Amino acid sequence: MAHEGPSIGFIGLGNIGTPMAERILEAGLRLLVWNRTPGKMQPLLDAGAAAAESPADLARRSDIVCICVTDAGALESVVFGPDGVASAAGRARLLVDNSTTHPGISRDMAGRLLAASGMRWLDVPVSGGPVGAHAGTLAAMVGGDAADLEFARPVITSYARQVTHMGPVGAGQATKACNQLINFVGMAAVAEALHLAAGFGIDVDRLPQALAGGFADTPILREFVRGKAAGETGGIAFLIEALRAFHEGRLDPAWRGSLHILLKDMGILHDLGRATGRVTPVFDLVESFYRIIDGST
Ligand SMILES: NC(=O)c1ccc[n+]([C@@H]2O[C@H](COP(=O)([O-])OP(=O)(O)OC[C@H]3O[C@@H](n4cnc5c(N)ncnc54)[C@H](OP(=O)(O)O)[C@@H]3O)[C@@H](O)[C@H]2O)c1
Repeated sequence: MAHEGPSIGFIGLGNIGTPMAERILEAGLRLLVWNRTPGKMQPLLDAGAAAAESPADLARRSDIVCICVTDAGALESVVFGPDGVASAAGRARLLVDNSTTHPGISRDMAGRLLAASGMRWLDVPVSGGPVGAHAGTLAAMVGGDAADLEFARPVITSYARQVTHMGPVGAGQATKACNQLINFVGMAAVAEALHLAAGFGIDVDRLPQALAGGFADTPILREFVRGKAAGETGGIAFLIEALRAFHEGRLDPAWRGSLHILLKDMGILHDLGRATGRVTPVFDLVESFYRIIDGST
């Protein structure tokens, strides 16, 4: 496909960043990539992307800089660290942060970036996992100015089917926290139902089929069935099986520390609960299960 229009930079080629960057390239946009571990850039370079020397180099050569890194510390490093995006004066006018972080982090970093370089900020966390990123069907929750969203829309719609402008900077991250609350409770509910069904002697493997089309037929349940059939050892299939094993009194030491990205999201939820004075008792209960599995209680 011919490459035309603005040049897009993408930083953070992890489990979800890589398929998102692939969709951007597939949409016919010019793509420049940078990743801390350089070897992870190779599949994108093979597919037609160019490599940047550093986040600053990428920002100097892109109109829009997309970032999808682990957490606030990683974001701080690639935006404000040595050779970070903020140190590059010039071409890039918009940063699209696809990482999941705290709304307060988005607001703070957006202000600092604008002051340092004149670049504007959109928080665009996503939901749908690597499967949704591969299919280009993610849900993107946007915080920032409407005009900035319109500028970035061709990029965002390359990997997301649902793009919703939720308000000013930070509103996308607050929406993602709500998304995570529903996911954490939903996965725990599926695990508990499977546990109960097994106790009764129902064929647990046929439970999802029996629920198909009813109100308990959720994307979480369908993703569990898909991931399990594919023999995946990560994602929703792993989490639900781990929760189920926890109910059966089994904990694998190999799981210790494996939920760090999710626990980061749980920390954000707690903080938002405190900041807004809202209680989340159902989430608080299931969080303890995930913490036991991760060994971080
Ligand atoms: N996976 C999902 O299903 C999913 C779904 C929705 C949202 N998210 C969110 O998307 C973000 C990325 O998740 P992921 O699953 O793709 O994680 P991942 O596979 O662990 O990838 C993390 C990425 O961040 C980079 N990174 C980490 N620390 C860094 C640092 N200090 N400096 C520079 N780069 C750094 C990593 O670089 P290296 O390659 O060098 O380690 C890698 O590119 C997270 O905020 C997560 O919450 C994930």
